[in-house]
Amino acid sequence: MTKPRVKIFDTTLRDGEQSPGATMTHDEKLEIASMLDEMGVDIIEAGFPIASEGDFAAVKAIAENSVNAVICGLARANLKDIDRCWEAVRHAAKPRIHTFIGTSPLHRAIPNLSKDEMAERIHETVTHARNLCEDVQWSPMDATRTEWDYLARVVEIAIRAGATTINIPDTVGYTAPAESAALIRRLIAEVPGAEGVTFATHCHNDLGMATANALAAVEGGARQIECTVNGLGERAGNTALEEVVMALKVRGDIMPYETGIDARRLMAISRRVASVSGFPVQFNKAIVGKNAFAHESGIHQDGMLKNAETFEIMRPADVGLSATSLVMGKHSGRAALRSKLKELGYVLEDNQLGDVFVRFKALADRKKEVFDEDLIALMQAEEREAEDRIRVERLRVVCGTDGPQTAELTLSVDGEARSAEATGDGPVDAAFNAVKALVAHDARLQLYQVHAVTEGTDAQATVTVRLEEDGRIVSGQSADTDTVVASVRAYVNALNRLMVRREKAGRDAAEVSYKDVG
Ligand code: KIV
Ligand code: ZN
Repeated sequence: MTKPRVKIFDTTLRDGEQSPGATMTHDEKLEIASMLDEMGVDIIEAGFPIASEGDFAAVKAIAENSVNAVICGLARANLKDIDRCWEAVRHAAKPRIHTFIGTSPLHRAIPNLSKDEMAERIHETVTHARNLCEDVQWSPMDATRTEWDYLARVVEIAIRAGATTINIPDTVGYTAPAESAALIRRLIAEVPGAEGVTFATHCHNDLGMATANALAAVEGGARQIECTVNGLGERAGNTALEEVVMALKVRGDIMPYETGIDARRLMAISRRVASVSGFPVQFNKAIVGKNAFAHESGIHQDGMLKNAETFEIMRPADVGLSATSLVMGKHSGRAALRSKLKELGYVLEDNQLGDVFVRFKALADRKKEVFDEDLIALMQAEEREAEDRIRVERLRVVCGTDGPQTAELTLSVDGEARSAEATGDGPVDAAFNAVKALVAHDARLQLYQVHAVTEGTDAQATVTVRLEEDGRIVSGQSADTDTVVASVRAYVNALNRLMVRREKAGRDAAEVSYKDVG
């Protein structure tokens, strides 16, 4: 028996990227879009074209390069936004305009519209979008806190005006599974015309129920789930793509729906999104966390050796995790490195391979065993730092019980070497002070996080640094067996990103936010 199909609508590049500090570059967005397309995502929300020139260019480029997926852009409920969105998505083989307005009492108060005025605006904007594009999605933002009568009324208006998908956002993560299912079920049963459109669910994770709410909405009749890779998104994030996909796969017995996703690509895209967004995946994250398939306790290990199903409801390979991760050492050659990287999803040209090989050899000299995770961290650092104008050339720190901790640092700034010495409370603080002495800036350190990539005292440390300057938030990341070196590289990587953002902000003098509803 064929199962009903649930479409996967990925909004990593729009809602996910809205997460402060998760900004991605143009090329990174293109790469993620192509990975999403290849893994079978039905609809990719590529961005919010009116927000900035950069957003527009990214959505347009993703649309031009799209292969299978529908490419969607977001637009507020005004004609200018919708026209700009269409300009960007119309290049796709399958374009979609997604327009929205906040319909709850709190959201209606922002543009100060009466219920009738807002209803009129919805009719006008959806009609306009539909005149441009055959595929139009409409969302009543904060639907789960909108009065039932008004919600049903505006959904009907949007359907009559030509919307083909009605998305019901739980914007602030307020609903719960039973309510989520009941709301969709009631809308489908009571709103005239509902049978002719697709209902979608868009859940935020403020109470940790985003995945449960999305799956419940499917039970209620939704046939499109909006989600992001790793659950990336503002505040506590969105429904995680990997969670809904695997839940439907593993529990097909009680949730008989299918998606078009090739689950074996989940690990690769999770790692890539973590790297480009600068938001590491928490170790105990379902499906893609480092510990999701790790079995620590003796009882678990014993059971696993006898029969993997004792404690595992899915196999690591089902989500693209290779069974063994021990790979190479200092005697491994270029061909072995190339083939291992290919297995991990990195296909390199000869010159790129040369650079990576030098880095790999340096790592293998310091670390006896190089694991898959080490190579992934190395590749992520290589890619993040490839375009950096400021680079770490040399670092020497003095630390220990007898302070002051001191750092001597040489940076190359646009090819010119600059050196400084600084002290601080500990080696990382001293090294960061040396960076500040060499590159003057007012950015505030918002986050400094260190994760060991593998076990052992010779493990690489992955460091994430988040900086904030004038409301602009950027993340930097790097990895090294020396935690202080990784920290300075991550800091410098964030500074490089800040420079790009400053230049971009100069070009897009009037950046807008999707919350500026007008
Ligand atoms: O959370 C939300 O309401 C949104 C809308 C723009 C769909 O992201
Ligand atoms: Zn959202």
